[in-house]
Amino acid sequence: MDTGSPCSLSLSLLLAVAAGAPSRGAVVDPNVAPFFIYPEPELNTATLLEVCNLAQIQLDLHRIHATHYVIADAEFIKHIEPLEGRVEDPAAASWFVIPFSVGLSRAYDGVCGSHLDRLNQALDVLESSPWFQRRQGRDHPWVTMSHWMFLKTKRSYPMQAFPVARFGVLRNMVLGRYATSRLGINDTVYGFRPTLHWYSPYLGYGEQWRCTLLLPTKSFQLAWLADMPFEDWRRRPVSIYFRGNPRQVWGRRGDDLRDKAKPLMSVIPGANILGGGKVPAETYAEELQSSKFCLILQSDDPQISRFYDALAAGCIPVVVNDEFLLNAAPFADRLNYLGFALHIPESQFSDFPALVMHLTYNMQEARLRSMLAALLEARQILLWSHPQSRTAAWALSEASHTCSHD
Ligand SMILES: *[C@@H]1O[C@H](CO)[C@@H](O)[C@H](O)[C@H]1NC(C)=O
Repeated sequence: MDTGSPCSLSLSLLLAVAAGAPSRGAVVDPNVAPFFIYPEPELNTATLLEVCNLAQIQLDLHRIHATHYVIADAEFIKHIEPLEGRVEDPAAASWFVIPFSVGLSRAYDGVCGSHLDRLNQALDVLESSPWFQRRQGRDHPWVTMSHWMFLKTKRSYPMQAFPVARFGVLRNMVLGRYATSRLGINDTVYGFRPTLHWYSPYLGYGEQWRCTLLLPTKSFQLAWLADMPFEDWRRRPVSIYFRGNPRQVWGRRGDDLRDKAKPLMSVIPGANILGGGKVPAETYAEELQSSKFCLILQSDDPQISRFYDALAAGCIPVVVNDEFLLNAAPFADRLNYLGFALHIPESQFSDFPALVMHLTYNMQEARLRSMLAALLEARQILLWSHPQSRTAAWALSEASHTCSHD
C-alpha cells in the first residue's frame, strides 16, 4: 500500500527518463497559444535550399559569422515544428509562423538563386495570404535575427539582408530579435527622432515593426558541456575569464571596460584575462569550460553572444553591460537572471574593478551551488542547442505575453 515510497518514486523517475521525457526543473514552462505554420514552399527556406547541395559550399567569413552566431531563425523553425499547440487549421490559430529564415537565405546568397529573389518571392506570397491580410500581419511573429536586417549606413548598405523598399510589410508584425529599444521608428513624442542605427545609445534605436519578441542568439557549438556536478565545476582551475583587446569593439565604453579588466589578471587569484586577437575555436571553448566565472563586458550592441557561450560551457556570467537587462535579456520578467548571473554596473566596474570582482571569488559555497543549479536550468530555456531546449515554447509564449494583438 506504500505507493508513495521513495522506491516507487525513483522507479517512475527512471521510467520517465527511459521514455525520453525531458527533465523539468523549478521553472514551469508557459502555455503556448495555438499556432499555424505556413505550408507554402516559397515561405520555407529549408524546402527552398533542400535541392542545393549545401555541404559542397564553401562559406565565406561573413556568412559563417551570420550562420553560427546571430542566426537563431533556423533553430526557431526547427524547434517550433514538433511543438504542442500546432494546428493544421489556420482558422484555429492565434499565431502564424513563417518558416523563412532571412539569415539562412542570405548566407546562401547565390546558391540556387539569389537571396533577394527568394525573399521578394516569399514576401509576395505572404502579402497575398488572406491570413496575413486579415490583421495586416499583427498575429505574425517572424524570427529574423540577422544583424544586417536593418543596417542603413552607406558602408553597410550592400550587406543588408532585407530590401528597404519592402520594410512596409513588417510594419504591423512581431519580429524576433536579439535586442530591443521598444521604440517605434515614427515615435517622435520624446522630442527626438529615433535613429536607424543600433550603435549606442541603443535606447534611441527606432524599430520598423509593431512589437519585438526578444530572443536569445545561438551559442557557440563547441562551447557546449553537458550538465556537470557542482564538485566538478568547483574544481575548475580558472576563477574569472575574459579574452579580448580594446579597439575590437564599437564605441569607447567597451574599450574602457576592457582596459580596466586587464590588470585584474595580477590581482585576482586564478584569473585568466587575456588579450590577443582571434584564437582557434577549440581554445576559446576550452577556456570557457575551465572557468568558473566569465566576464561579459559591454560590447558592440546590448546583446552579447558570449553570454550564451558562457551558459553553454557552464561558466557563470558576470555581466558588465548596463543595457543588457533593459534591452537584451530574453524573458527577463519571467526568468530570474539574478539567480544565475551577476550584474555589475559599468561605472562600478570601471571605478573599482578589483573590488567588485571579489563578489565572485568570495562567494559563499551555498550560493555558488544554487547559482550553478539555476544556470543549468536557465540554459534549457535560453539555449537553442540544448538537448532539452525549451526555448521555442518560451519564444512563442513570449509573443502572447509581450505582443498580444487583441
Ligand atoms: C513611418 O512613417 C513612414 C512615413 O509616413 C511610413 O511610410 C512608414 O510605414 C512608418 N513606419 C512604421 C513602422 O510605422
